[in-house]
Amino acid sequence: MELTWVEISKKALTANIKTFRKLVGKDVKLAPAVKANAYGHGLVETSKFLLEAGADFLCVNALYEAEVLRMNDIKAPILIIGYTALDELEKAINLKCDLTVYNLETIRKLGKIGKKANLHLKIETGNHRQGVKFEDLPKVLKEFKKHKNLRMAGLSTHFANLEDRITHKYALYQLKQFKKAYRMLEEDGHAPHYRHCSNTAAAILLPEAHFNFVRVGIGAYGLWPSEKTLKAAEHAGINIELSPALSWKTVVAQVKEVDKGALVGYGCTHEMPKKGRIAVLPIGYYDGYVRLLSNKGHVLIRGKKAPVIGRVCMNMIMVDVSHIPGVKLEDEVVLIGKQGKERISAEDMAANSQTINYEVTTRINEMISRHMVA
Ligand SMILES: Cc1ncc(COP(=O)(O)O)c(C=O)c1O
Repeated sequence: MELTWVEISKKALTANIKTFRKLVGKDVKLAPAVKANAYGHGLVETSKFLLEAGADFLCVNALYEAEVLRMNDIKAPILIIGYTALDELEKAINLKCDLTVYNLETIRKLGKIGKKANLHLKIETGNHRQGVKFEDLPKVLKEFKKHKNLRMAGLSTHFANLEDRITHKYALYQLKQFKKAYRMLEEDGHAPHYRHCSNTAAAILLPEAHFNFVRVGIGAYGLWPSEKTLKAAEHAGINIELSPALSWKTVVAQVKEVDKGALVGYGCTHEMPKKGRIAVLPIGYYDGYVRLLSNKGHVLIRGKKAPVIGRVCMNMIMVDVSHIPGVKLEDEVVLIGKQGKERISAEDMAANSQTINYEVTTRINEMISRHMVA
């Protein structure tokens, strides 16, 4: 028996892909971001399933993720959206990956390698993360033109605060800059086939930013980028439902009676207010159940919420089950997901650990099995 595992609902993934297909239309490439172990859902199986469900492209952050996909016989187009080291560019081309580029050095090196390569030029429009600044664009385009083996396959940028706002002034400014960059490229004789800047929030809220390619991440897994994005969608009359695909489970590893006044866990941070029962669960911060959930998190056992008491340990947590009759060894426990009428969402866990749903799912240890379920 596994002590902890993650279940991924195929039904939910299919529903989400359908939702985004409907939002963007059939002519737009749907390119889910499967970086970070497919947002914690399991890189290979989730990618295969997303493709079966109708995705056209896969976006990974790094070459090592693309290598794993190719090793597992995934032949779909892959775009590496993060940085690829100069000495790994040839490997990326050999694996038939499209590359995101924004450095002169990368273009020079690719030119020198001499093999055909599909490049997506990334433009700095206001995120101040990756991207070529406007003032550097002429130099970059000049370098690009020197190398006949290089194909300008796409032009991209990334929004800075779409999910943090109900109104989108800054995103619309970025979009304007993006269009300006496209015109500059056209005037210089380039015709990047794909134009892309849409993450989940833009795919939902900004149809004018879809162009012909969208890089949907969190939404593909059935999670909203933020409460604000949900509110903005409702406000704009966009009624879509997303279905969370991931559940995270474990089992009870010990049940014990504890006296009133018993001190629980490292640091003795919880004192039992009365005689009761606790369950020890075999997961901890190593697994991705972060220490900030100490004395704050909840789990579901026998369809009821049980609070985490004491500090989260490296490999264990303790929960108070005094109010839940019949808890026994190896009972199934839900950390994220539904049990009976109760549910703990990634957002609940995020709120209790001062973070966002993105971090909650991506930090679930990669070594924990992921199972695709109907
Ligand atoms: C460049 C880029 N594109 C797309 C995405 C997908 O964003 P989201 O998960 O909000 O849809 C990300 C995620 O961080 C990203 O970094």
